Amino acid sequence: MSNVPSRVELRPLTHSDQDEFCSLVRASAELHAPWMQLPATGEEFQGWMRRFDDGTNLGFVIRVQETGEAAGMVNINSVIRGRYQGASLGYAAFAPSAGRGYMAEGLTVAMQYAFNDLRLHRLEANIQPGNKASLALIQRLGFRYEGLSPDYLYIDGAWRDHERWAITAPSPWTSDPSLPEV
Ligand SMILES: CC(C)(COP(=O)(O)OP(=O)(O)OC[C@H]1O[C@@H](n2cnc3c(N)ncnc32)[C@H](O)[C@@H]1OP(=O)(O)O)[C@@H](O)C(=O)NCCC(=O)NCCS
Repeated sequence: MSNVPSRVELRPLTHSDQDEFCSLVRASAELHAPWMQLPATGEEFQGWMRRFDDGTNLGFVIRVQETGEAAGMVNINSVIRGRYQGASLGYAAFAPSAGRGYMAEGLTVAMQYAFNDLRLHRLEANIQPGNKASLALIQRLGFRYEGLSPDYLYIDGAWRDHERWAITAPSPWTSDPSLPEV
């Protein structure tokens, strides 16, 4: 995948992002419900940060290059190596900058990072059938529909059906050394 010019950049989520992140999550409550639950208090944020400790999950803030404004977040979650070499994306816009194409650009940068730097072979996005904005976004990015998984993820207090969307690395692709040779 060639790197295209982008208005946004990905910055690894750090403890210093806590206050800004939580206040943007609180400002985005209406946009995120019932699809996404993100930390809105310092305590929740500190618990959330622990998921990034062992490198299995990577968290990023999508920032507008010109202003530094945090437009949203994207996680590259559940990185599995071996014969899978895949991960799943979790993402959300922040309400003050939603609907301006920043998420499409931020996810494009995340895909480039995943395929070119992490050398992953597969990215998934698992989306509830009613989440029209997320389905439209992921289709624009070239993900393909792979099927419906009943009771797939525990969201907003219940096991929810999810559509499974995925994309594999464009060629040419350089594999990670952890991929078995045969
Ligand atoms: C899904 C979600 C991340 C989409 O965020 P977004 O900010 O609307 O995404 P984008 O702005 O990148 O793209 C969406 C719109 O921007 C428009 N857009 C694209 N480029 C643009 C540009 N340069 N200028 C202005 N608008 C633009 C697109 O046409 C699109 O509009 P449309 O849907 O009316 O056609 C957001 O709705 C969200 O956070 N939802 C809650 C959390 C969630 O569901 N997460 C995913 C769980 S699976």
